[in-house]
Amino acid sequence: MIINVIGMGHVGLPTAILLAHYGNRVIGTDNNDELIKSLVSKTKIIDDEFLRQYYFSSVGSSLFFNNVPVTAEIHIIAVPTPFNKETKKVDLNYIYNVIDQLILLNQKEFLIVVESTISPGTINHLKLKYNQVNKKISFAHSPERVMPGNTYYELINNNRTIGADNIETFNVIKNLYKEFVKGEITHTDILSAELSKVIENTFRDVNIAFANEIAIICNKLKLDASKIIEVANLHPRVNILSPGPGVGGHCIPVDPWFLVGDFPENTQLIRAAREVNDKMPEYIKLRILSISDYYNLSLNDIGLYGLTYKENVKDFRESPSFRILESFKSTHGINLKSFDPFNHEPEALDSNFLMFLKGIKLIVILVHHDHLRLNIEFIKEKMIFDTKNKIHYSHVIKL
Ligand SMILES: NC(=O)c1ccc[n+]([C@@H]2O[C@H](COP(=O)([O-])OP(=O)(O)OC[C@H]3O[C@@H](n4cnc5c(N)ncnc54)[C@H](O)[C@@H]3O)[C@@H](O)[C@H]2O)c1
Repeated sequence: MIINVIGMGHVGLPTAILLAHYGNRVIGTDNNDELIKSLVSKTKIIDDEFLRQYYFSSVGSSLFFNNVPVTAEIHIIAVPTPFNKETKKVDLNYIYNVIDQLILLNQKEFLIVVESTISPGTINHLKLKYNQVNKKISFAHSPERVMPGNTYYELINNNRTIGADNIETFNVIKNLYKEFVKGEITHTDILSAELSKVIENTFRDVNIAFANEIAIICNKLKLDASKIIEVANLHPRVNILSPGPGVGGHCIPVDPWFLVGDFPENTQLIRAAREVNDKMPEYIKLRILSISDYYNLSLNDIGLYGLTYKENVKDFRESPSFRILESFKSTHGINLKSFDPFNHEPEALDSNFLMFLKGIKLIVILVHHDHLRLNIEFIKEKMIFDTKNKIHYSHVIKL
């Protein structure tokens, strides 16, 4: 098959690499010229070992790159879908931009598979919007579930839902993925695929907000939230997620807003959960201030550890850590000291970490990277405020 994957980001590039490795001719498209140059010249850094190997062996033989879409049997769209900050609805401008380019191609029939996360009803809307053009366009939705940092494993092993109008279209797409997907591939209608993807992330957001509220209550009761949650999770039908300094990345803090934007009357819980999680960085800031008051620390004595939005991944998108830093900057005019191992070259990592520690009395753990676990000896004499409740020394201040 000839496949054009559009959007060479966290989702599109690994998908393109696997499709190329498993017997297709794939053209990866991105409107970021620098990215395309690095992909063509094989200088793009790909962290995952398998994906890197497959990329090196496919480029130029089954995997090609281009800065505009090209004719193909299947077009897979994996461009960003943020939410509109005012209406909270999904912002489809990136998707419109791609389809507007596709319909200019010298091609009469299209099968467009949207992998980007979209609000329920989006594909129906796209069908109506592009109904006027003189081309036959079939749409399907194959939402992606991968987790950054574990993309290769999850692309292979996750179950996948494909929303398609008929079994023929489903089979075409299923045959494509089943070359490498070991998980189950399920057929649903398009609307169900759209909604199920959005509610998966919404479920996690609501559950994390619940855990965060429990953590705030536990702090008032002087109890350890993690222990309480661990005990509650012994119930066979309870599975509370972990509290923390807020929710980052481009999925969980974004997708629930699509529902709030489309169903404002029916999403009180979902909106409240979003707001609880969005306020966590401010709560952490207040806790830092009260700890520093109590122990008579100056803000110069404080250092934040962990700036990525999750552990062990070089991904800083929408990270709560930056919200905490910005908030201190705006109210106190200070850039708190901070450190993330993913901001340092391996040769300088140890010395920079020690330098960071040297200047501080209180270390605030915002992300529990493996790096911290491996260097725990160096911090154990410090005052520690652990917003992830993962460090179990008796003197640690918990979330
Ligand atoms: N990151 C994840 O782990 C993840 C997981 C599941 C679903 N998703 C969804 O997948 C979609 C893509 O997310 P991502 O994380 O890969 O985004 P990303 O920002 O990593 O990559 C998107 C890419 O699309 C490119 N792009 C934007 N407009 C374009 C255009 N008109 N033509 C060609 N390229 C264009 C950008 O330059 C960028 O390289 C989003 O809808 C996201 O919600 C992401």
